[in-house]
Amino acid sequence: MKPTFYVTTPIYYVNDVPHIGHAYTTVAGDVLARYKRLMGYDVYFLTGSDEHGQKVEKAAITAGETPLELADRVVKRFQALWERLGISNNDFIRTTQERHKNGVSRIFKDLLDKGDIYLGEYEDWYCTPCETFWTETQLIEGRCPDCNRPVEKLKEESYFFRMSKYQEQLLAHIEANLDFIQPKSKRNEILSFIKEGLRDLSVSRTTFSWGIPVPGNDRHIIYVWFDALTNYITALGYPDETGNYGRYWPVDVHLIGKDILRFHAIYWPTFLMAAGLPLPKKVFAHGWWTVEGQKMSKSLQNVVEPNMLIDKYGVDAVRYFLLREVPFGLDGDFSHTALVQRINSDLANDIGNLLSRSTAMAVKYFDGLLHVAVELTETDRTLKLKTEEMVTIVDKFIDEMAFSKALQAIWEVISAGNKYIDETAPWTLAKDPANSGRLATVMYCLLESQRITHCLLSAFLPATSEKALASLGWNEEVSKEGLAWGGLKAGTTITKAEALFPRMEE
Ligand code: MSP
Repeated sequence: MKPTFYVTTPIYYVNDVPHIGHAYTTVAGDVLARYKRLMGYDVYFLTGSDEHGQKVEKAAITAGETPLELADRVVKRFQALWERLGISNNDFIRTTQERHKNGVSRIFKDLLDKGDIYLGEYEDWYCTPCETFWTETQLIEGRCPDCNRPVEKLKEESYFFRMSKYQEQLLAHIEANLDFIQPKSKRNEILSFIKEGLRDLSVSRTTFSWGIPVPGNDRHIIYVWFDALTNYITALGYPDETGNYGRYWPVDVHLIGKDILRFHAIYWPTFLMAAGLPLPKKVFAHGWWTVEGQKMSKSLQNVVEPNMLIDKYGVDAVRYFLLREVPFGLDGDFSHTALVQRINSDLANDIGNLLSRSTAMAVKYFDGLLHVAVELTETDRTLKLKTEEMVTIVDKFIDEMAFSKALQAIWEVISAGNKYIDETAPWTLAKDPANSGRLATVMYCLLESQRITHCLLSAFLPATSEKALASLGWNEEVSKEGLAWGGLKAGTTITKAEALFPRMEE
């Protein structure tokens, strides 16, 4: 049986249309999913939409729609974008689906029955955009400490989750599992937050109606984060153990942005502990994108719309840029200049040129027919070794979510390929028929190195790699076995590759 791998993105709020922040996590999840599939895992990749709560209700009122009409309309935009971006999710969960609502009610009821959720009264400051309560001391100059917007005082009867009860158990878990929260700096933030003491958490609201009612008391709506976080198991059919839930839970990694780490590293694990369910293996928080040095916001009108980027630069250029430009886990800045530079140097020049030069020579010197490599010289062996090492290094980096390092490691082999052409000078060899054995070996090494490179790259740049592999005469499905040197067989037909990436005006 194949080992399983379950990866999730956050479920996106439908009161906003998709932007590069959303695309970022989803592309990262896709790379992980594609890579693990190619390495032989049985992968489940989940994304979806967060459709309940006051924020969505308010947006619907403003738009003159029902919340569900709004959700139906906006969710299509997310789904269409994922399709364009080549996202290979296995499922898309909407929190308005029955499968989700049933699962949430069930888990809420279990915790009520167990006494870990109880009825009490709440009075505190509430930030509607963040759907979060704050104490007086947490406010910064009377405003929300997360988004700096005004807060309002709310007093309501509320159900509470006994989060305080799980404080020590959670601390012990985080301390015993170094990888549980990543990157490390974020793990430390969470540890110190917990050490300050966890209060019980208000998990219901009575001030609006758009959500899942509390079982047995429908004056109360289940808190949107309790509702949303549970998507990671309701999508697997929880509580039914026999299907996907039994197969894929606990999740291998929840990919999220740093702003929602507390929900994933504190609330969610304690909910699961209370329900007696296994915890996620890893929660990874990535950084935020600014745009041309500024915070991305509707009011600044600088929100970067992924469809526009795809129209202008192409899907794979966008995917590449997002993961290459900034180490995953750190903040980064989006700029058109930086994107164009990456396209011209890394994509058009390095990888595109290498493939078109190599395949053009194979066609010119051997009519596209691939011959066996006779005897490898030191130079050939160096290229072969570098290619083989790349496979191991990339695996390690992907396990660490170090996508930009993985791409750098791949690009080292691409540079090595370009250098190899200069060193072996095939055009000189081609002048003398006596060198044809040597020339065939050079062509083999050059093309085989790129075949392996593009098999790996298929996780990052699926459309590009498909074209590249086709011109390299590789029609097999990419697989772990296919990453071994020697896959290309004599007699394979190589065709001249078109430019993979056109150069852009700076
Ligand atoms: N609905 C919640 C998540 C629930 S998960 C159980 C939510 N939705 S969101 O649509 O507001 O944001 C989703 C993700 O987009 C978050 O991970 C957030 O970090 C990410 N980003 C929003 N703006 C971003 C940037 N400018 N840069 C990078 N990621 C950003 O939160």
